[in-house]
Amino acid sequence: MNDALKRCHRESLERRILDLFAEDGRAQDFSVSHDGLLFDYSKTNIDTDTRRALVALTETADVAGRRAAMFSGAPINATEGRAVLHTALRNLDGDPVTVDGQDVMPGVRATLERMADFAADVRDGRIAGQGGRITDVVNIGIGGSDLGPSMAVRALKPYHDGPRCHFISNVDGADLTDTLGGLDPARTLVLVASKSFTTQETMANACAVRAWMARAVKDPAQQFAAISTAKEEVAAFGIPPERMFGFGDWVGGRYSVWGPIGLSLMISIGPDAFFDFLKGGQAMDAHFQSAEPERNMPVMLALVGLWHRQICGHATRAVIPYEQRLERLPAYLQQLEMESNGKRVAMDGSALESDSGPVVWGDAGTNGQHAFFQLLHQGTEVVPCEFLLGAEGHEADLVDHHEILVAHCLAQSKALMTGRDLETARGQVEAWGLSGKTLDRLARHRVFTGNRPSTTLLYPKLTPYVLGQIVALYEHRVFVEGVVLGINSFDQWGVELGKELAGAILPAVRGETAPDRWDGSTRFLLDRIRTPRTG
Ligand code: F6P
Repeated sequence: MNDALKRCHRESLERRILDLFAEDGRAQDFSVSHDGLLFDYSKTNIDTDTRRALVALTETADVAGRRAAMFSGAPINATEGRAVLHTALRNLDGDPVTVDGQDVMPGVRATLERMADFAADVRDGRIAGQGGRITDVVNIGIGGSDLGPSMAVRALKPYHDGPRCHFISNVDGADLTDTLGGLDPARTLVLVASKSFTTQETMANACAVRAWMARAVKDPAQQFAAISTAKEEVAAFGIPPERMFGFGDWVGGRYSVWGPIGLSLMISIGPDAFFDFLKGGQAMDAHFQSAEPERNMPVMLALVGLWHRQICGHATRAVIPYEQRLERLPAYLQQLEMESNGKRVAMDGSALESDSGPVVWGDAGTNGQHAFFQLLHQGTEVVPCEFLLGAEGHEADLVDHHEILVAHCLAQSKALMTGRDLETARGQVEAWGLSGKTLDRLARHRVFTGNRPSTTLLYPKLTPYVLGQIVALYEHRVFVEGVVLGINSFDQWGVELGKELAGAILPAVRGETAPDRWDGSTRFLLDRIRTPRTG
């Protein structure tokens, strides 16, 4: 943290967020409005000086230079020697993008066309199951090969006019059993989504689903398609090349919903609506590349995040969409943000000088209000909250529900900021006819310290285009935070050790090897698992 920001932080501790509204036009000044979206960060303790100091961070870190490098196809994922070009997947009518001297756009467009043809054929019945028209699609994948499409399919339910989509991700057999229950294998299409096509959980699920289908149809491979970068592994699984949809190694798993990994979404909402989703992402790319920092939504979202985590020291942030159909957004953002910026080593291998990215968590409002909001309002930890809210809902016959939803969202951010002081609390308790020590004690329980920061992202209505804007907004936020922190946001070495150990422990779980080589606790647990007791 530099001296200017240290001073800004000290000063912020001397004032309350509410005081900042003494100046006229704060809400307008401390918000960014673009293409129908409004990002309001006025309910934070950021003032003009703080914002200036935060924007200076982007200059020192050369965010503009790194951004240009990313969009141009330079290998900015230095630990894996790869370009980072998920933006090319939505660069529908843009300029050529070269990787190692080759324009990747013709390939991107060709794959998108193949996806659209395939999706249309499935939707219109030209591609059918061995028992008739496809009624259900099952996407098997995990992490980035699941979270993006499952979040988006859920989010865009009002636009579904294709077969039903289901997702199997966990290797827990329960996920598979519960998802397949009630499906007709002869009318189900299976998409095996795995960038590497070696992920243990996905391959175990894919094999089990193939066996389930083989019990009902002659040729299960006919009802399978693969989404992967690994041609040989896909062929070895028995899926022919014309049923494989590939993408470059310059698309990271958690950034991959825009391409073939989004096939389940495309089948569900149709190619045209999927293109609208891409257009929303592309529009956010254009804004991110051209707007000056203070008017740049991803940049300001990132700077607010850095302020709260690295400068104010808040360890977590809550993402709370007031939109039931965005209930999977927090889980999606957990991977996007925590797998990207949860790192303790900087680009050059040195220890990170600041804290890494925060713990991201959350759930849809209003449900969260009846679960964890108590802590948000009165706990000892301050948790900056990021609210998302649609001005309009889809349920034309339930407008009053939407109005109640909106009122709750606005009430929460206001309550977090203003709180309730002891005097007001005493007045309330006094009105019940109490006095003395009892009044004192009960009033204290009803105090809200307030001064708790939040932001609100307001969007018109959750359409495919708007969802594209929101996802791209968060992707670029992660990028900016990573650049300022000096992190490589595009590798994920931190998930490797557990994977390796799981492979090594499995023989002991199966009883094929003795558990001797493991530490005392693991051995103890293995023993107990292998000799279940009652009580
Ligand atoms: O969790 C690690 C990870 O590599 C993620 O980055 C990725 O999204 C997920 O596993 C799935 O990998 P794959 O698509 O190769 O099966």
